[in-house]
Amino acid sequence: MRKQLLIPFLALGAVQFVAAEEPALHITIQADQPGSKINPAMWGVFFEDINFGADGGLYAELVKNRGFEFPDPWMGWSKVIPTNAVGSVEILDYDPFDAANPHYLRVRAGFFSAGVGVANEGFRGMGVREHATYRFSVQARAIAGKPALRIELADTSGRALGSARLGGFSFRWKQYATELRSRATEARAHLNLIVEGPGTLELDMASLFPVDTWKRRPNGLRADLVQMLANLQPGFVRFPGGCIVEGRDLTNRYRWKNTLGELADRRTIMNRWNTEFKDRPAPDYYQSFGLGFLEYFELCEDLGAEPLPVLNCGMACQFNSGQLVPLEELDPYLQDALDLIEFANGPVNSEWGGKRAALGHPAPFGLKFLGIGNEQWGAQYIERYAKFATALKAKHPEIQLVAAAGPDSEGERFDYLWSKLRELNADLVDEHFYRPPAWFLNNVGRYDHYPRTGPKVFAGEYAAHVPDRANSLESALAEAAMMTGFERNADVVRMASYAPLFGHVDAWQWRPNLIWFDNLRVIATPDYYVQQLFSRNRGDAVLPLAVSGPAPVQGQPPRLFASAALDQKTGEIILKVVNAGTDWIETAVHLNRALPARPWATEIVLTADNLKAENSFADPDRVSPKTTRISLSLPDFTYPFAPISLTVLRLKAPN
Ligand code: AHR
Repeated sequence: MRKQLLIPFLALGAVQFVAAEEPALHITIQADQPGSKINPAMWGVFFEDINFGADGGLYAELVKNRGFEFPDPWMGWSKVIPTNAVGSVEILDYDPFDAANPHYLRVRAGFFSAGVGVANEGFRGMGVREHATYRFSVQARAIAGKPALRIELADTSGRALGSARLGGFSFRWKQYATELRSRATEARAHLNLIVEGPGTLELDMASLFPVDTWKRRPNGLRADLVQMLANLQPGFVRFPGGCIVEGRDLTNRYRWKNTLGELADRRTIMNRWNTEFKDRPAPDYYQSFGLGFLEYFELCEDLGAEPLPVLNCGMACQFNSGQLVPLEELDPYLQDALDLIEFANGPVNSEWGGKRAALGHPAPFGLKFLGIGNEQWGAQYIERYAKFATALKAKHPEIQLVAAAGPDSEGERFDYLWSKLRELNADLVDEHFYRPPAWFLNNVGRYDHYPRTGPKVFAGEYAAHVPDRANSLESALAEAAMMTGFERNADVVRMASYAPLFGHVDAWQWRPNLIWFDNLRVIATPDYYVQQLFSRNRGDAVLPLAVSGPAPVQGQPPRLFASAALDQKTGEIILKVVNAGTDWIETAVHLNRALPARPWATEIVLTADNLKAENSFADPDRVSPKTTRISLSLPDFTYPFAPISLTVLRLKAPN
């Protein structure tokens, strides 16, 4: 173990091993020559409502189809009419409280009735916690008699977990609210709304939220899931997608203006992932837009992350309908983009800045980036991107535009887009790669030879896909290796984000995902820890680094990858090394800088006993970073990099 034969071979951050004897591999860091600045917003997250990421996930609403606006207005709801009860339950649409939300429920409960009503199943159940408080709200009016409403949380066996009562209903539509406490923890609770008669009650926008949302905001987000994002310390949040921005067709595209203000006015539409994969159908997947653009901007603000909204560019998903807005009819789309910039940054006396203020956020959000389309390709995209760029740069040269490089990591479509976007002098080009681990390991040097001038790279979506699409140590290390390449080329790769971000274990359409959750719990994957280690050990400037080692073995991917950065605030040298091989690698590290001997270092290692290792609810920490304080003899020391590991060393000389 640990001993390697050194055949002189120099590479930029990547080397391959042949097992042999002495001496060790060498990593030489020019610690006194900080190079390119690393973008403070380099490592971010990409959020999309896929896998029940928003409705049923981050958005803490527990009631599915609260406004009865799914095409089947009964979806998520069932009637509760006990055998001896007298009454009826129906859904109507002729006299709603809000024309934008036309369907509502009418419940008639007769004399001597135990109660008649409905039950909502939630998103694969409702997660409720013992002693936690939940806020129920509803639009209601009594159109006959003096009905009361019993609101009841129940477990799968029907046992009541908590209840509340509302009464004294007006004959006009009005919002009512109350709170319930749960006496037990239950992942698959449901909500009963039972009308006690005699009387007839109409209900709409029936909603149940935990009081303990993130920052206890009404209409808020699931605190545990936001905490997972906060723990990543992301530099940016790209939102709201992904393919969801494009839509299967243009009627199904994401329209940010429809996601503001009154919840009932945010018209529900089908989530495009509802029907995307035949083997993972999600017929009950819709977008309520309760998590809308204001909430996204607030989330970015909470996380200290740059907002990076993506807008539809007049093209529906080219994998689906590929519908196009004719160039001469693109103005409303351009206007949406201009208005979004004003909504985010405009003064309160501007039209859209005023709307932001009226929604409770007078301070601007400091928007700096805007994505134009998602995974578009072809001349049709370039023509539309050019129109956006002309219109937006004329008014807002300060906004960096993110252009699409399509869905491919290379090839004709990719090359065409890059050549055109270079001609158009795009700010950032969004590359996506969902590829096997070997592709990642073979492409760590991808950016070493990219031109240093012209558009920069935004690695906006990537994930290593192992054959069973697991989130294993293997996928995580492949991504980590690639990220050392991003970091070494931080002058070219300005931003990067893994994709997708969230997956509900009972309701996913796509995997792997960075974070898995159910109605109560959350799992950080090995891939999550890789993102976290890079983000929290970013550094401000790249330190030039060379690895010398044995000559590569023909046909095999490299096994060791490294990058280094300087944290200018603390003076620490941050070395990141991926050992993708199964042997220890004893390495001599040279910092090329005079430093006093015997300083301390922080060592953070992410590894496991085998590449297939994953985290699970049963074993959430199986692959998780271990931090140790160690003593090293700087500026030259030897260090054994563990098999199948990512190691971060923070090296600091004593002051
Ligand atoms: O991340 C999942 C999907 O992958 C995104 O919506 C899309 O951009 C890509 O095809």
